[in-house]
Amino acid sequence: MATATARKFEFSTTLSQNRVDAQRRAEILASPGFGTSFTDHMITATWKPEIGWHDAGLRPYAPLSIDPATAVLHYAQAIFEGLKAYRHDDGSIWAFRPEANGARFVRSAQRMALPEFPVESFVDAIDLLVRTDADWVPAGGETSLYLRPFMFASEVFLGVRPANEVLFCLIASPAGAYFASGVEPVDIWLSTEYTRAAPGGTGAAKCAGNYAASLVAQQQAIENGCAQVCFLDAVERKWVEELGGMNLYFVRSDGSITTPDLTGTILEGITRASIITLAGDLGYKVEERPVSIDEWREGVASGEITEVFSCGTAAVITPLGRLVWDGGEVSMGTEPGPATKEIRQALLDIQYGRAEDVYGWMHRIA
Ligand code: PLP
Ligand code: COI
Repeated sequence: MATATARKFEFSTTLSQNRVDAQRRAEILASPGFGTSFTDHMITATWKPEIGWHDAGLRPYAPLSIDPATAVLHYAQAIFEGLKAYRHDDGSIWAFRPEANGARFVRSAQRMALPEFPVESFVDAIDLLVRTDADWVPAGGETSLYLRPFMFASEVFLGVRPANEVLFCLIASPAGAYFASGVEPVDIWLSTEYTRAAPGGTGAAKCAGNYAASLVAQQQAIENGCAQVCFLDAVERKWVEELGGMNLYFVRSDGSITTPDLTGTILEGITRASIITLAGDLGYKVEERPVSIDEWREGVASGEITEVFSCGTAAVITPLGRLVWDGGEVSMGTEPGPATKEIRQALLDIQYGRAEDVYGWMHRIA
């Protein structure tokens, strides 16, 4: 499957005759929210085992027509990615590490028995869509154009086996802060009842089912006044893994920062990986190792853990306020801590072109 499909391919272009008018677009960009408005175009490509990827092209954004027996609706053979394009002060537009998302998309596809989408074509698709819909990239504040590539089993068939027809799609959505509170600390619900991913399962893949499985815990989080769920490992119910859509970092009083190590059940976040490099260069000692829930609770109580933050494309770096569970809570504070602020600023400065990109992370689109 990999060798037959891994070659780069070209995209055709069919422009929309019915674009959102400039005034409506300006209203959307003035207050974009997250994931509610979409640009004028999208990219699609189809895969079949005999011919590989074909019919790849940019076309007007429109609903997809799905037969009720389409395999993804029944068996959830689907993966996705999330990355952002940023407008710099000089008007230019840049993506953050798109080839890293492309490589993770390949790994997720492998785990879900989906065809590999060539990384070069993944980046080409992003370039084409963002250049075409460049007017949709907001300017100012912490706004961006959120890019959502995804792939799913589009074959009309109810047998349970890897699909013989797959659709790739890329859509784009102007974005402000993921959390309504912006950079204020968010409260987290510790799920002791549900787990997200087990050894041998799909935790390291960015597949739709992981998010579906997290939603009942997310519902409990909301009922308990929290914004996100923290999941523990499925075997011992002892080790801190990640949030439903973000990785975690702990800041210690000795100036070191710790993130749970990659065990195969955690998503390998690109923000997480970038912080390992960036915080190291800012002088923090960075550790990747198992962190137990007792270490978190006791560390906050003793003052050894001074800050906890989450990180991800949508959330950037967001400080955590309280960790709440059935019967108790600990508070990390009501203000973002100094390390969280420093690392957050350093990352945003690179993404928005205010600091030199010494790592070669930024990819110029327009
Ligand atoms: N963990 C999960 C479960 C996620 O959905 C995400 C978001 O993509 C992350 C972590 C952070 O990954 P990244 O930094 O690549 O966005
Ligand atoms: C992202 O950060 O891109 C994600 O996919 C996380 C999701 C909660 C929006």
